[in-house]
Amino acid sequence: MTRTALYPGTFDPITFGHMDIIKRASRLFDHLVVAVAGHPSHSKSPMFSLEERVELTREVVRDIPRVSVCGFSNLLADFARDCGASTIVRGLRAVSDFEYEFQLASMNKALNAEVDTIFLPTSTPYTYISSSLVREVAALGGDIDQFVDPRVKAALIKKIC
Ligand code: COA
Repeated sequence: MTRTALYPGTFDPITFGHMDIIKRASRLFDHLVVAVAGHPSHSKSPMFSLEERVELTREVVRDIPRVSVCGFSNLLADFARDCGASTIVRGLRAVSDFEYEFQLASMNKALNAEVDTIFLPTSTPYTYISSSLVREVAALGGDIDQFVDPRVKAALIKKIC
């Protein structure tokens, strides 16, 4: 049986922190679907459109084996069912992430009893990165080379200018 997992997120834009989780999770499953949310949490209004986020993510994970990228605009619990995925992977950067993540995992379990969430600890160099901070640093002319792939940097600069 093929073990498929989903790694969902907003990816606005994808950072090295996300890529670290993708590389590590891809070794644990036969197939990892990076699921780019068309409807992220209500507090977010992404800088990049869903199509742009999917395209950028696809470009930078292209060489990682057993990984594909899909956009989705329905409930994550339903999208997991559509993909035949029984596992959702999320990264934890700090204890402060846990409360929200536990809530998401519990809601997803309530909506789809077949799906379980596993957490991977974010690797040390990436614990302080977030997409919004990277966007802010880029907007103010800071150096983001250590946080994102050059193709993401180029897309950010183009968007900001
Ligand atoms: N390294 C560095 N940064 C990381 C990281 C890592 N390993 N993991 C997460 N982050 C950052 C992200 O960049 C993001 O930063 P930001 O807040 O500045 O944008 C933040 O941590 C959390 O983002 P992300 O992992 O993308 O999660 P999210 O909270 O934006 O996404 C969804 C949550 C998309 C999974 C959730 O909203 C969802 O499932 N939506 C679909 C609709 C649905 O089913 N809703 C009901 C949910 S129960």
